[in-house]
Amino acid sequence: MAIKIAVVNESKNHETRVAVVPEIAQKLASKNVVFSIEKKSGEASGFLDSDYPKDACVFVDSSSDALSDADVLFKVNPPTPDEVALMKKGALAISYMNPFENHALIRTMASSGIDAFSVELIPRISRAQSMDALSSQASIAGYKAVILAANHANKFFPMLTTAAGTVRPAQTLIIGAGVAGLQAIATAKRLGSRVIAFDVRGSTKEQIESLGAQFLDTGITAEGEGGYARELSVEELKTQKEVLSKTMGQSDVVITTAAVPGKPAPKLIDKKTVESMVPGSIIIDLGAVSGGNCELTKPDDVVDHGGVIILGPTNLPSTMPRHASELYSRNLLNFLSPAISDEGLNINWDDEIFKGANITRNGEATFSQEG
Ligand code: NAI
Repeated sequence: MAIKIAVVNESKNHETRVAVVPEIAQKLASKNVVFSIEKKSGEASGFLDSDYPKDACVFVDSSSDALSDADVLFKVNPPTPDEVALMKKGALAISYMNPFENHALIRTMASSGIDAFSVELIPRISRAQSMDALSSQASIAGYKAVILAANHANKFFPMLTTAAGTVRPAQTLIIGAGVAGLQAIATAKRLGSRVIAFDVRGSTKEQIESLGAQFLDTGITAEGEGGYARELSVEELKTQKEVLSKTMGQSDVVITTAAVPGKPAPKLIDKKTVESMVPGSIIIDLGAVSGGNCELTKPDDVVDHGGVIILGPTNLPSTMPRHASELYSRNLLNFLSPAISDEGLNINWDDEIFKGANITRNGEATFSQEG
């Protein structure tokens, strides 16, 4: 029996990405998969319905038509309660689920008998790298944050020697050197900026330096579980903010990406520090998704604080939907492929990847962070 995967239109949430692009639909079609796709789902990312393989895809008028007899739902954003209600019992839902906050959704999916997987929880092990949606999308965010900063800056990034005189390179400070931070460092370097970066995980020093940036030692290390950082104590945070504020005052651009999974973004930049920056400086706060690394950030808004411009974009991957969708879609293909067989879906529940990403199964929540 062919496995039916549903794809629905996400534009309702100002989302421009699509969970399956034509190339990946073609790949899955060769593995016993057919698609039920809500019309124009790929349009905002640059893919027309006519680009998808005709023999494997049926285009339908509504999400309810797409979902009613689907075995799997592939989405970018978490399914809505209405979408969950339309799915058949035992179907799989695979998408971003925001599991640390979406307790009600987890309960609804469990009680509806949906077996759900959260791409945020796919373990960050070597075997799962090709499935790592957090990485593929954060890399886009890191790149675009620098482009956005350059667009708002009143300066060049590179050093220029011109007939009218020499222009000094801009200084960019990158806070947090995870996936987004490292891509931001590489992009700012390519544009010719002087780049300084830091993270609380000691292992990042070598990575920062290998990209040609200078490592800023704040004297704080905070390695946590699973290769992530732990939350800082109040004292550690205070020390870090002091070291940081000096460097911020000398930077033209600050890109903040500091995050601890499941926790609000650490507040590393206060009002006083922003006021120490030269008017015209730019802060791009990627932590805006989880409350902001800067206390003045307003999500998806532009704040002008005494001439310092602060942006808190929450969905940068959606500003580059073609590549974002291609990468995300490949992540989903690589995640589900081991479960696809000629007989239908066959999930190995002992596999640490399926187990790690699973949040509901057989009517029960298998992941819960509720207090
Ligand atoms: P990641 O987990 O790979 O990196 C976060 C880094 O922050 C880690 O290296 C961690 O050690 C570091 N960190 C934690 N506490 C710190 C502190 N006090 N000081 C300095 N560094 C600290 O996460 P990733 O994938 O790089 O994403 C970074 C942030 O960007 C996250 O908040 C994520 O939600 C956000 N993001 C935003 C997007 C947007 O469009 N705004 C899109 C994708 C990600």
